[in-house]
Amino acid sequence: MGAEFAFKFFLLYLVLVMCVDGKGGARDDSQSEGMHGEPVHVHDHPSSHMDHMDHSLLVFFTLNDLKVGRTMPIYFPKKDPSKSPRLLPREDANSIPFSYEKFPYLLQFFSFSNGSPQAIAMEDTLRACEIKPIKGEVKFCATSLESMLDFVQGILGLESRFKVVSTTYLTESSILLQNYTILEVPKEVPAPKMVACHTMTYPYAVFYCHSQGTKNKVFMVSLIGENGDRVEALAVCHLDTSQWSRNHVSFKVLGIEPGSSDVCHFFPEDNLVYVPMPTMSNNLINVM
Ligand SMILES: *[C@@H]1O[C@H](CO)[C@@H](O)[C@H](O)[C@H]1NC(C)=O
Repeated sequence: MGAEFAFKFFLLYLVLVMCVDGKGGARDDSQSEGMHGEPVHVHDHPSSHMDHMDHSLLVFFTLNDLKVGRTMPIYFPKKDPSKSPRLLPREDANSIPFSYEKFPYLLQFFSFSNGSPQAIAMEDTLRACEIKPIKGEVKFCATSLESMLDFVQGILGLESRFKVVSTTYLTESSILLQNYTILEVPKEVPAPKMVACHTMTYPYAVFYCHSQGTKNKVFMVSLIGENGDRVEALAVCHLDTSQWSRNHVSFKVLGIEPGSSDVCHFFPEDNLVYVPMPTMSNNLINVM
């Protein structure tokens, strides 16, 4: 009963998160997957980006920064819920091809003109979804809630219950970038395995979900902004970055060499991380 309740609650939670708050989709700016942290095998950012330091890159830090009283500039994107794309039921999503090969057909299907911002975003998403995972990584672009949950279950183990964690903005303000100070000792969320799902820009809700075999740490961090904004921020620290592309933006932002340090990043509000629920049994850990 407990498991069923947890699962129902979880679904309800997701539905609330995605429908009421209208999350689960649009990235209204044209940033790419790598911005929010994960290996930028997706897009390598031209260094010109860095010359004027794209604000959306101000999400990276190292474990060393995770201390009470530490202040750092952080970018938290805020979306207009009314502009978020719809989450499709699996049957509907499956009736529409989702592959780069079908891009010309999809342009027609959604009535986007070639070269339009929507077309470019769609192309970027399709490409990102087809790029091969890096060593030790499993990735999947989910076009429906059901397929996202299937993927998560496959990684975390069919027997395990899991929970979803995400960033919450406790106050409402329109400021995207400001200095935030860590208020309390960050709470580590046990994550023997984890799946991170990032929203992608697409005509309907698409999540880029992936899981790295390397060791990660997940934290909830209480932050206060200079203007008093409060954020309960989800942060993930990747302890082993040796397989990441040399061009990963985080290395440039943090000024470090690939593999030389852990890399952490904050998650925007509409991205999700799934972790197994802690239980007495450890059968969560050895599936797959
Ligand atoms: C954060 O604080 C530093 C030091 O006071 C300041 O130089 C910087 O401009 C601030 N950044 C933002 C985004 O307000």
